[in-house]
Amino acid sequence: MSTAVIIEETDSNTTFHNLKVVQLPRPVPKTNQALVKIGAAALNHREYWILRGQYGMNVEYNTIIGADAVGTVVELNGESPNLKVGDRVVLTPAVGWEKDPRGPEKEYSIRGASKAQGVFTQYRALDFSEIFKAPAHLTDAEAAALPLAGLTAYRALFTKGHVSKGHNVLITGIGGGVAVFALQFAVAAGANVYVTSSDDSKIARAKELGAKGGANYRKANWEDDLLKITGGQKIGVTIDGASGVGAEIIMNKVLAPGGIFVSYGQTGGDFTIGWGPIINNAEFRGSTMGSNAEFEQTLKFVEKHQIHPIVSKVWQGLEHAEEALHFLKNGAQFGKLVVAVQHDQE
Ligand SMILES: NC(=O)c1ccc[n+]([C@@H]2O[C@H](COP(=O)([O-])OP(=O)(O)OC[C@H]3O[C@@H](n4cnc5c(N)ncnc54)[C@H](OP(=O)(O)O)[C@@H]3O)[C@@H](O)[C@H]2O)c1
Repeated sequence: MSTAVIIEETDSNTTFHNLKVVQLPRPVPKTNQALVKIGAAALNHREYWILRGQYGMNVEYNTIIGADAVGTVVELNGESPNLKVGDRVVLTPAVGWEKDPRGPEKEYSIRGASKAQGVFTQYRALDFSEIFKAPAHLTDAEAAALPLAGLTAYRALFTKGHVSKGHNVLITGIGGGVAVFALQFAVAAGANVYVTSSDDSKIARAKELGAKGGANYRKANWEDDLLKITGGQKIGVTIDGASGVGAEIIMNKVLAPGGIFVSYGQTGGDFTIGWGPIINNAEFRGSTMGSNAEFEQTLKFVEKHQIHPIVSKVWQGLEHAEEALHFLKNGAQFGKLVVAVQHDQE
């Protein structure tokens, strides 16, 4: 059997749906699939939106949640050029997108509560093409933390933002899982990184990770504080997932002429693009997670720069998944929230 966490639909759309720990048959790998024994799984904001009934796209109830995991290959059905039994691996956080930089070639499903079954479970069978070797320098918790948020940050920064050495980059809401990866990756690329946060202590943590400074977006006229820190220089690229109307302030007052504003999320709600960004020749670019090719590039980048994902907290056992989700909702974390998957002696 395989213990798993599924999302059960409740009959009210005003309350949380239920997470339930269930026993499912252990999956049997089909041809060109491997069976992976999951060691740890990580949460993303997406699971919280799904639980609240606020995730717009293709939710399938009574299926396993979660997109991020690390595990060990325990069985191969067929010959794989890249994998063998005993390899420690991470899983692509979605299916349907091979390599087109513009967007998915096929129907795209993020793992968890969707057509692509999730990873909050003891065992998962997956196609060889969905499995990559985990960077060797990472712990299980760090490797589980990487896929969805790391891939989102990588694509937003490099494919969409074209960030490179010496660029001035602003990363908003630095307490977020994607935002912390964006900070680490941009620093590794040699960019001058600035951040925003609601919490001065998170700005201090960001500086420890290499940020040049940051402003508290809860304070009035925070954009003036930010521009003081940059010495008056405007920002070439903004990576944003949560600012809401704060995005309007950034596009109107902080972005340099011709600057790029990459948006990968809307935690803080909608915003409007008015006349200001147009006459500033600004570029708005939407961004989603990324392709398998970008996932491979992310893993290589993390290995090359020996980056360690920041894990805020680890719970022991799948039965703590709901508690971990409520922790995520409260937003006290700096970095990722991970659930270690336990296995009885077999
Ligand atoms: N497009 C995609 O493929 C994709 C992929 C991943 C995530 N997303 C979306 O991106 C968003 C962030 O995801 P995540 O997993 O990184 O979430 P998360 O870890 O839960 O991020 C929460 C953080 O957002 C920041 N925040 C909240 N309100 C803000 C505001 N008004 N202005 C600026 N920052 C604010 C806070 O930062 P401080 O604590 O520093 O204030 C908070 O800690 C979510 O909406 C998610 O659904 C999209």
